[in-house]
Amino acid sequence: MPLGGRFALAELPYAIDALAPAMSAETLTFHHGKHLKTYVDNLNAAIASTPMEGMALEDVVMQSSGALLNNAGQVLNHNLFFSQLRSPRPDNPPTGRIAQLIDEQFGGFQDFQAQFDKAALTLFGSGWAWLSVSGCGTLAITQEPNASNPISRGLTPLLTADVWEHAYYIDHRNSRAEYLRALWTLIDWDVVNLRLD
Ligand SMILES: [Fe+2]
Repeated sequence: MPLGGRFALAELPYAIDALAPAMSAETLTFHHGKHLKTYVDNLNAAIASTPMEGMALEDVVMQSSGALLNNAGQVLNHNLFFSQLRSPRPDNPPTGRIAQLIDEQFGGFQDFQAQFDKAALTLFGSGWAWLSVSGCGTLAITQEPNASNPISRGLTPLLTADVWEHAYYIDHRNSRAEYLRALWTLIDWDVVNLRLD
C-alpha cells in the first residue's frame, strides 16, 4: 500500500545474511537494496499525479500499462519473492495443505519440482516462473515474461522463482539450474500455505 501516496521498499522479513549460503548477503544487498529499490522509485515517479496514485499495488498491476505496469509488476513480484524465503534447509519438502494439493495434482513433490524447474529453466530471457491457484482450487505452473504476474490471468500467486539474471549472477554466475536448486532450500512453505488460504 502506498505510504503518504508513495510505495515503500518492503523490508526483508529476515536478516540480510539469513539466507546464506544459498543466497548471499551480497545478492540480497543488490537484488533487494538496489534492483527492487529502483523499481519502487520508478513506480513512484510513474504513478505520481495519475488517477492510480493511492491505489493498492495489485490494482495498479491489473489496470496499468507501459512503464507503470512494468515497475508495479516488478515491485509486486519481488515482494512476493522475498517474503516467501527463510533460512536454508537442505531437505525442505512442502507441508500442510499445499503438500496435499501438490500430491493430488502433480503426483508428488518431485514431479511438481521437475515441472516447475522446467518452466523456470526454459523461460527465455528475463521473467518469472510461478505456482498459482485458480478460484476452484486448481494449481497451475506458468511462465511470465519480464514483469508479468499471474493475477493478470485471474490466478492467485503462491510461489515464484525470479529468473532474471540479477537474481543469481553474483552467487551462481550463469547457472540458473544451480540457483534453482539453492532456491528450493529457502522456500517457506508456511507462507505458501497462507497465500493458499
Ligand atoms: Fe529480481
